[in-house]
Amino acid sequence: MTLEAETKAVVAQFDYTNEDVNKAVKEFIRQMGEGLEKEGTSLSQIPTYVTGVPKGTEKGLYMAVDLGGTNFRVCSINLNGDTTFNLTFSKVAIPRELMVAKSAKELFAFLAKQIELFLKEHHGDQFEKHVRRRMTVTSPEGFKDEEVFRLGFTFSFPVQQIGINKGKLIRWTKGFDIPDAVGKDVCALLQQEIDILHLPVKVAALVNDTVGTLMARSYTSPGKTGTVLGAIFGTGTNGAYVEKLANIKKPVTGEFDKSTGLMVVNTEWGSFDNQLNVLPNTKWDIELDKETPNPGIQMYEKRVSGMFLGEIVRLVIVDLLKKPEVSLFKDENSSTNDWKSTTSIAPNSGVFTQWGLDTSVMSVAAADTTPELVALRQALEEQLHIYSPSLDDAQTFKAIAAAVGRRAARLSAVAIAAIVLQSGTLTDPAYDGEEIDIGVDGSLVEHYPYFRDMIYEALGQIEGIGAEGAKRIRIGIAKDGSGVGAALIALVAADMEKRTSGADYIGELRD
Ligand code: GLC
Repeated sequence: MTLEAETKAVVAQFDYTNEDVNKAVKEFIRQMGEGLEKEGTSLSQIPTYVTGVPKGTEKGLYMAVDLGGTNFRVCSINLNGDTTFNLTFSKVAIPRELMVAKSAKELFAFLAKQIELFLKEHHGDQFEKHVRRRMTVTSPEGFKDEEVFRLGFTFSFPVQQIGINKGKLIRWTKGFDIPDAVGKDVCALLQQEIDILHLPVKVAALVNDTVGTLMARSYTSPGKTGTVLGAIFGTGTNGAYVEKLANIKKPVTGEFDKSTGLMVVNTEWGSFDNQLNVLPNTKWDIELDKETPNPGIQMYEKRVSGMFLGEIVRLVIVDLLKKPEVSLFKDENSSTNDWKSTTSIAPNSGVFTQWGLDTSVMSVAAADTTPELVALRQALEEQLHIYSPSLDDAQTFKAIAAAVGRRAARLSAVAIAAIVLQSGTLTDPAYDGEEIDIGVDGSLVEHYPYFRDMIYEALGQIEGIGAEGAKRIRIGIAKDGSGVGAALIALVAADMEKRTSGADYIGELRD
């Protein structure tokens, strides 16, 4: 086969037709229902103990930390009470060895250390005051209340939540793998390390990044329907939405405010359809899954999110490189039979190593619409060490990357559509003609060109939504969502604490 024909054949395997999309939406809604009824289903549908979304009037200074992707972020957030906020943050890459550390303590001690550094740098006064008192008190409970920062802990992994600041890790995702943390309360793990450093910080709320995104978006863009969904399309993918308490059939134990009749549910949709009833499954998807630490799990995420898309493209490329008759990235002068040496790719190229092809190259490919693909050819050369890629080479790369990216966007539309349909807002006369707000965050929606356009295109093809419905759905970026959202939930938690202790009432979420 010629390169062109071979490319076409590959691209066709990533087609996800309108019919496929519609079938998947129905299955998604079915699996959502199943997850609300019992434990152990593919969509975990985790109750979050958050029982409303913000109004935009909340006020106060809070801290938030965010663990869940390649970086750890520490921030302090001043909620101004008028839908605006000021945020100070520091960010550090999580050393690879800590993601797969022998014990959870190694990772959590590192996190606490970063909190200490942040406090010293950005809240020096408060920190100094606290150090002076450190001689006499040894735990946050011993500090004066106003000296203690309430911290929202955004921990973006599946957690069985048992309270607003308590939750046991169900499983790691996105390349993390520290077995002794599974089943433990991650807030307690962090608080222990904070206490060892005697920091004036109380882990007040445990938050999934999707829940934070939902809260942050509601705070900054309050609309009539409220934000219906908070979703992440980044290293991983997931969504949280507002569900009627009455629909959550499985037991929700512990204390929470029942007055709103609502609760935010973390779907953990990364594991939608692990059983592959409706998800596409090419040979490269199978190959990718086998190489991960969690085969058979997070099957939707492995077809949608940034951590995996580059790897799918890489596996396709490697397959093509192994075919002597396909003239992709070939070294014309090579005389060996070893497939790697017949290519014009340096031996240390990411093309030859697992996770070596970053999704950012796919973004360059999507953005480059010039006839000669100059920017893409340059990126292939600089980032992937492919010598002098030809126009044909670059076109092939672009076509494959586009096919993988488009499939991911159409799959993303499946989850969004299912939740919009489940919310009933499109057909509810009370919201006649209103926009339906969705807050999103993550590198893919932010940086992958046309991702949102492709989602909209698919939404328009979905039964019950159609072109008119798609127009009413407003997918907006919730910048810094997880930090602000975690702060808002820390506020609610502090508020609940005050209410139960009889102190002043400081705010409420709307129902
Ligand atoms: C993974 C995690 C989930 C998180 C998502 C986005 O799917 O399991 O908790 O929300 O990544 O970061």
